[in-house]
Amino acid sequence: MYGLVNKAIEELVVTHFGEDQWELIKKKASVDVEVFVSNEAYPDEMTYDLVSAASEVLGKSASAILVAFGEHWVLKTASESYGPMLRAGGTSLKDFLINLPNFHTRVQMIYPKLQPPRFECSDISANSMHLHYFTHRSGLTDFVVGLVQGLGKLYSTPATAKVIAAKVEGADHDVFEVSWTDAVA
Ligand code: HEM
Repeated sequence: MYGLVNKAIEELVVTHFGEDQWELIKKKASVDVEVFVSNEAYPDEMTYDLVSAASEVLGKSASAILVAFGEHWVLKTASESYGPMLRAGGTSLKDFLINLPNFHTRVQMIYPKLQPPRFECSDISANSMHLHYFTHRSGLTDFVVGLVQGLGKLYSTPATAKVIAAKVEGADHDVFEVSWTDAVA
């Protein structure tokens, strides 16, 4: 994955746990990179190794780390570094999710070698929908949960994403039931 992903993990850890913990995590993951370059591609394994080392060093489940990372990605990384692109995605959570299938097409203009996930929406109602997530990667289901929660916070419509079909349990792809509250006035 592009370096900005590992950079965002670094930022999350350093902000909440400090530089020393990050150095320990890199050591445990055998990652010998001083500075991640955003637009350089790194092996996916490096990202997975950093997440599992963070889980060990910080004493938190990998699942909890991925959820926190998803929220951080939306509320910090994307909001601060890609604000206009994020805002162009929609004016409400529902709108954003409906536009999500096209979102990474725009990201691909900056990162041409992107191997993005694919999303589809179905069963759309006023306060919920089913979000279908397709990817050749495994283990990132909880990252999507965190991303959706982060988007809910971004639009002030707190949201939950419940897994109703899971690829690890034999389903064709992961499906989330996403529900959100009305905007707080
Ligand atoms: C401006 C905001 C965003 C940028 C710049 C961005 C960029 C990226 C990049 C660089 C990757 C790594 C893939 C690779 O390098 O091949 C990625 C992966 C991913 N993105 Fe985005 N993204 C953004 C917003 C979002 C949002 C809002 C969602 C969903 C709700 C999302 C869902 C994902 C997922 C699930 C992956 C993991 C890869 C996979 O599932 O195969 N992204 N994105």
